[in-house]
Amino acid sequence: MEAIRRIKGTQDILPQEVGKWVAVETKIRQTMNTFHFEELRTPIFEKTELFARGIGQLTDIVSKEMYTFPDRSKKLITLKPEMTAPIMRAYIENKLYALSSVTKLFYIAPLFRQENPQAGRLRQFHQFGAETLGAASPDADVEMIALSLAIYKALGISGLTLKINSVGDPACRPAYRDTLKNYIRPHLNEYCSDCQRRFDENPMRILDCKNETCSRLNEEAPKISEHLCDDCQTHYDQVKAQLQKLDIPFTEDPYLVRGLDYYTRTVFEITSDALGAQNAICGGGRYDLLAEELGGQPTPAVGFASGIERMLMVAEKQGLILAEENRLDVYLVAMGTDATREIGFWLHQLRAAGIRTERDYLGRSMKAQMREANKLKTRYVLILGEDELNNNIFSLKDMEQGEQSQIPFNELIPTVKNLLTK
Ligand code: HAM
Repeated sequence: MEAIRRIKGTQDILPQEVGKWVAVETKIRQTMNTFHFEELRTPIFEKTELFARGIGQLTDIVSKEMYTFPDRSKKLITLKPEMTAPIMRAYIENKLYALSSVTKLFYIAPLFRQENPQAGRLRQFHQFGAETLGAASPDADVEMIALSLAIYKALGISGLTLKINSVGDPACRPAYRDTLKNYIRPHLNEYCSDCQRRFDENPMRILDCKNETCSRLNEEAPKISEHLCDDCQTHYDQVKAQLQKLDIPFTEDPYLVRGLDYYTRTVFEITSDALGAQNAICGGGRYDLLAEELGGQPTPAVGFASGIERMLMVAEKQGLILAEENRLDVYLVAMGTDATREIGFWLHQLRAAGIRTERDYLGRSMKAQMREANKLKTRYVLILGEDELNNNIFSLKDMEQGEQSQIPFNELIPTVKNLLTK
C-alpha cells in the first residue's frame, strides 16, 4: 500500500531537532519575561471574518492564502494565518483592557498560509511575537524593536538589518495615495497584473511588489515619508531618535509598506543576508485602528512577529549550537536471566533519582548492549552479571575515560549522582 506523506509545505520536527526548538522557546520566554510581556494562547482556528476584517480582504493572506472551510453548521472557519488579529480579538473579548491600561502580550504559535512552499516559506510555520495594546507612545514601538533584537542576541544570531518606515495614518495617507496614483497612472499598463489590481484598491502595496519591472517603475515613486502629517512626522522622528539613543542601527526604507492592511505609522522589518529570497525574519509595526475595526474601543497598539523556522535557518548558517546534545547518563547492561529480571528494579531507582537511564529490551548479547550504549553516547554503563548479582555490586564503566570500577548496590545512587556532577 502506498505510504501517506505529509502535506506539502509542512514539516515534521524530529526528535533530534526538538531540543533546538525547546532551547529557542525557553530563550524567547526568558527575554519576553525580562521585558515584562505575558503569554497569551489563542485557538488554532477563528471565524474567517476576524481575518477578513482584521488583515484586509485585499491582502494576499486573505485573498489567496488562508485555509478556510465551513464547519458542520456551514459557518466559515480559518486556521489562523497570523496572531495580531486573534490577540486583539481576545483582548477585546476578555476585556483585558479593564485589568491595566497598557497590556503587553506575547505568543509562540503555529500558523497556516497556503503559499507556494520554498526555502523559508512554509504552509505551516511558527512565529513568536509580541503586542503592546493601549500605548500610543513611540517608545512602545522602539521597545518592540529592542525586544526582537534582544531575543536574537540571546540566541547568538548576528548580521541582521533593521529597516523602518512610517506608513502614515488616515490624516495623511489619502493625499499620499493620490500622489502615488498620479505617479503610477501613466505607466499602469506596464505594471504586473497584481499591481494593476492593487492600483484602485490599495496602491501603496504596489511599492512592495518584487516583480522586476514593477520595482524599476517604482524607483522614482513619491515617498510617504515626505508626505506625513505633523503628528505622524513627530511620531516617526521620535522613534528614530530613541533608536539612536539606544544605539540600535537602522536604515530607512521609504518603500517598506508590509503585506497586512492594519498598519498605521511605524512599520519595520528585520532581514538576514544568510537567507535567500525570503530574507525577512521579523516584521511588525503599529496598528492603531485595528481594535475599532474588530468592534472594540479605540486602542493604540504595536507589535512584531518573527518566523522561527527562518530564525533557525539563520542560526544554522551561522554555525550556532542552540541546544546541548541530550546524552544518556546511564545504560544498564544485564547478562543472564537473573540479572535481566533484576535490572527493571534498578532502572526504576535510577530514574526516580533523576538520572537519565536506559536498558535493553530485546535480550541482546552483552556486546550488542555495549554497542547500543555507545551509539546513545552514554556517559556511564552499569553492568549486572551473575558475579555482580552474587556480590551485590554493579560493575561501572566510564565510557569517556574507559576506566572500570565496582559499586555496592547500597551506594549506587549517591555514587552515580556524584560522578555525574563532576
Ligand atoms: P508577517 O510579515 O506576515 O507579519 O510575518 C512575520 C514573520 O513570519 C515573517 O517575517 C517571517 O519570518 C515569518 N513568516 C511569514 N510567513 C511565513 C511562511 N509562509 N513561512 C515561514 N515563515 C513565515 C505578521 O504576521 C504580523 N502579524 C506581524 C505583526 C505583529 N505586526 C504587528 N504585530
